[in-house]
Amino acid sequence: MPDVPAMPDVIVVGGGIIGLSAAWQLHRDGAEVVVLDPAPGTGASHAAAGMLAPIHEAYWGESHILRLNLAASQAWPAFAEAMGADAVDYRRNGMLMAAYDADDKALLDNLGDLHEQEGLPVERLRSRECRTREPLLAPGIRGGVYSPLDHQANPRRVVAELLGRVPIIPISATEVSRNRVVAGDGRVLACQQVVVAAGAWTGRLLGVPIRPIKGQIIRLSGPEGLLRLPVRGVVRGSSVYAVPRSDGEIVVGATQEEQGFDTRVTAGGVYELLRDVLALLPGLSEIDLVETWAGLRPGAPDNAPIIGTGDDGIVYATGHYRNGILTAPITAIAVSALVQGREPPVNLSPFSPERFRTSLISTDPAAGTSDQLSEVSA
Ligand code: FAD
Ligand code: GLY
Repeated sequence: MPDVPAMPDVIVVGGGIIGLSAAWQLHRDGAEVVVLDPAPGTGASHAAAGMLAPIHEAYWGESHILRLNLAASQAWPAFAEAMGADAVDYRRNGMLMAAYDADDKALLDNLGDLHEQEGLPVERLRSRECRTREPLLAPGIRGGVYSPLDHQANPRRVVAELLGRVPIIPISATEVSRNRVVAGDGRVLACQQVVVAAGAWTGRLLGVPIRPIKGQIIRLSGPEGLLRLPVRGVVRGSSVYAVPRSDGEIVVGATQEEQGFDTRVTAGGVYELLRDVLALLPGLSEIDLVETWAGLRPGAPDNAPIIGTGDDGIVYATGHYRNGILTAPITAIAVSALVQGREPPVNLSPFSPERFRTSLISTDPAAGTSDQLSEVSA
């Protein structure tokens, strides 16, 4: 790990994939940078499956998120190459979404319509065609959608690579402003620009409505190549995915729970994942279950990330919800551009930290009618 600079230009608060990628990009763009985090790499980024899936994560009414995710997908090859594509297990073999029963097929057909409306390159497949691409799929599945654009990487390996490339002070921040951080031991650290990338904990540090969204996830291990492709299934209305690594690990996820800052793994959570993944890919029942885990996705009320400079002068990079691994490289380039006064690579206006401050409806009668918009500090 590089030495901690005596007078950093930039302090990044939070050493998950977002903060580490931003710090590395800033370093590559010539800034003296340091990351503050008491436990770098142990947050959501340690839980994540590593799907780089703008298409299979696309959802109605979220075109602006889809555009960001597509730009992120284009930024990934260079990001992976700079670390070593094999070192981070970056693989571009596409992704298959499969429907378990007739109702699940109807849902996939609707999603296929959304993909077509958005002009996304997908192939709708019949059951047999799905099984030709991925022979491990259950014979009864009803059909699917293949996306050649959705890829994958191993987030734990990405974080390990990044941890070796940026200086870190292993301590938390308790107060932040544009150019000053108060650390947990009372030290005051000065710089020219503070970037906050504290994931699900950002709301505790700054007045933005970021909340933790729990995801339980399990890891299986079997023969290399047992599962050829990342598969996402809709099984009796529930969503489940299985992501194969090159070393035989298969990551199966994930629950989506509003439980506050709770990272317990529960019998019910693991049961649901195994029930659904084995319905979809019965051949996985014979391989080892090697890990159960839970992480906290950082979520904003509109599911979009917060990337931009706030009125407080702080650069925000948080709220990446289900797509923080995918969007790490584009966020990093955007953060570096914001800090260094360059044009960001994408339109960041939908992701402004200020968007929540005028969007809540007042219920205070003294403030006027209940449907009047009022200025609040979220
Ligand atoms: P984190 O990784 O949580 O890092 C935040 C860091 O901030 C932590 O290290 C923490 O210690 C530090 N911190 C907090 N408070 C302070 C403080 N006061 N001072 C200093 N440091 C502080 N995304 C994808 O793109 N593809 C996937 O396949 C995928 N799968 C997922 C599966 C699961 C089960 C989960 C939970 C998430 C998944 N995600 C996926 C989402 C992705 O993991 C997150 O969006 C991403 O990891 C967020 O990164 P982050 O750096 O913002 O947060
Ligand atoms: N993007 C997968 C997840 O958040 O579980």
